[in-house]
Amino acid sequence: MFELIANDLRSKGYSIQKDALPPRLISELLNVFASIPSEALKQAGIGRANDLQANHEIRRDEIAWIESTQGGAAAQWLEFSAQLQQHLNRSLMLGLFSFESHFAHYAPGAFYKTHLDAFKGQANRILSVVLYLNPEWGPEDGGEMILYCDRGTGTILETVKPQGGTLAVFLSEDFPHEVRPAKRHRYSIAGWYRVNMSNTLRVDPPA
Ligand code: OGA
Ligand code: MN
Repeated sequence: MFELIANDLRSKGYSIQKDALPPRLISELLNVFASIPSEALKQAGIGRANDLQANHEIRRDEIAWIESTQGGAAAQWLEFSAQLQQHLNRSLMLGLFSFESHFAHYAPGAFYKTHLDAFKGQANRILSVVLYLNPEWGPEDGGEMILYCDRGTGTILETVKPQGGTLAVFLSEDFPHEVRPAKRHRYSIAGWYRVNMSNTLRVDPPA
């Protein structure tokens, strides 16, 4: 499957894979998320921490960052992402250096309006990944991720149903995307591979 993802990235810049991880791991990840106390979940931000109003108009999910110290299924997810990183670095020379990811919960009605995960030029987020965790998801449940060709034309490249086990991978700078309002509780993991932007004055990403 890593080779399929590499080929898709090479030819079109994104890849959608169904049943990318074993159902057992998906349900364990959902259990890990469910065991996080609600006080530990944070209203997700958009990089303008002081503008809570603007933030609320753009995205309404709540998140919890994933650490390898959480062990169990969380560590297995990070292991999977490390293997994907290694494969893509070898086959596409992407120079991916580090990975960060968080659980995300969209309550009914929550959405994330069209955005890019990185901005051209200044970005060190190279590749975005999203893994879906809901065991069942019907067409009437909403919450699709729409991948757009570019902001100007609004051409839809892909409508991704957030069905447990589906993995979406795309170049962070190239694909505007949105999460349509979900009608049920929607659970996913969003992650980003970054390149190393360190120089002698700055350590980035922080060690
Ligand atoms: C994000 C994001 C998509 C999804 O968190 O940046 O775009 O389908 N998530 O959850
Ligand atoms: Mn995004």
